[in-house]
Amino acid sequence: MKIFADTADVAEIRRLASMGLVDGITTNPSLVAKTGRDYAEVVKEICGVVDGPISAEVIATDAPAMIEEGLRLAAIHPNVVVKTPMGAEGLKACRELSRRGHRVNMTLVFSAGQALLTAKAGAFLVSPFVGRLDDVAEDGMRLIADILAIYRNYGYKTQVLVASVRHPMHVVESARLGADCVTCPPKIIEQLTQHPLTDRGLAAFLKDWENRKKA
Ligand code: E4P
Repeated sequence: MKIFADTADVAEIRRLASMGLVDGITTNPSLVAKTGRDYAEVVKEICGVVDGPISAEVIATDAPAMIEEGLRLAAIHPNVVVKTPMGAEGLKACRELSRRGHRVNMTLVFSAGQALLTAKAGAFLVSPFVGRLDDVAEDGMRLIADILAIYRNYGYKTQVLVASVRHPMHVVESARLGADCVTCPPKIIEQLTQHPLTDRGLAAFLKDWENRKKA
């Protein structure tokens, strides 16, 4: 399963990339807004750090403008995946951009029906938001299982990118279900490296080594 970092913070991305822990990056308007920088500039810089799919979202709301903006984003670097929002206009834009050979990530997906339409529109990635579903007392991971089952039934090529990840168990459960990728805030990628028994075990090894009988 591929692990993407869900951030537009280039310093964070460099740190994670130096650990070899990221297969790609997802950004969205909220994440880029936090940096106070130009969207295209941030995406270009990220593409120079991580060699994998880099999702960049359109801000436009109608299909012709989304297509135009998507083409501009795709021209930044061959690794750019154009993110379009779910809905009739997003689906139209997805179909056209895909037809022209560009990879599209359909974002803001909250139901199996939306995911089905996303695959039919030829998207490269579908982004179901599990955390935001959990937030409203729906079962985010149940949606992932449903989408994977539907895609398997028909052999759809669209990859399932689990998004809006809130904790390490979302990642583990995604892997158990066979999702293609997850995108997580950097903190969660780091949490995955940690276990109290690892820390305790390492401390004991080091102490024993320090106290060894010197020959
Ligand atoms: C991913 O592409 C989304 O932008 C992201 O996972 C949304 O996460 P949030 O619900 O924590 O904002």
